Amino acid sequence: MTKMVAAILGSNILGGNTDKLLKEAIRGVEDAGCTVERINAAHINVHACMQTFGCMFEPRCAIEDGFDKYFNILKKADGVIVASPVMTYGVPGALKSFIDRCQPFYMAKYYRKQPFIKPDHAKIRKMLFICIGGMDKDDIFVGPTLTMKAFSDIIDAKYSDELLQNDMDTIGNIEKKPEVLAAAYEKGFALGKGIVDARQE
Ligand SMILES: Cc1cc2nc3c(=O)[nH]c(=O)nc-3n(C[C@H](O)[C@H](O)[C@H](O)COP(=O)(O)O)c2cc1C
Repeated sequence: MTKMVAAILGSNILGGNTDKLLKEAIRGVEDAGCTVERINAAHINVHACMQTFGCMFEPRCAIEDGFDKYFNILKKADGVIVASPVMTYGVPGALKSFIDRCQPFYMAKYYRKQPFIKPDHAKIRKMLFICIGGMDKDDIFVGPTLTMKAFSDIIDAKYSDELLQNDMDTIGNIEKKPEVLAAAYEKGFALGKGIVDARQE
């Protein structure tokens, strides 16, 4: 059994605050005994969905730009972490395109009623969402969280945990908040441990 977690970075900035939190979550997942396939969504040139609706009839996207490699990672994964900054009350464009390109999961599940993820696997698959925003407001996570809950439903990875940190414009560097980094590690560990335990049953 693979015990693999897909870890998707939504920030354009490698080494930034979102990345630092994702790295801690990944460390937790690995310490729990899982492997990680990391995807830097802003650095893989994912084309936007073109709404040709090829995936209504075929179990794949019609756009041939190499996205199937990431699509297959998502199919295989036992868990998913998405780490993203808030951008204009949503998620960054590249991450949103990545999510939209997962429409073949939606069509397989809801239109053709032939989901890619078998029920036994779906029982295991969970999603952790890490999100940070610059503003000191509570509502900045409403849009990103709704998008992520829809994504989790589409790919059959239950939205099971989240780590939301606002006020990053004041905080500046997330390393000033060791408790938040620790929470990312712990949530990553819990996700990984859940997979290891489920695979042992
Ligand atoms: C184009 C853009 C739009 C943004 N929109 C929002 C927003 O609507 N609400 C918010 O709280 N922060 C917003 N931010 C701030 C980022 O969420 C914040 O700087 C975050 O810490 C970036 O994390 P990163 O450096 O890891 O990418 C925006 C930043 C950019 C660049």
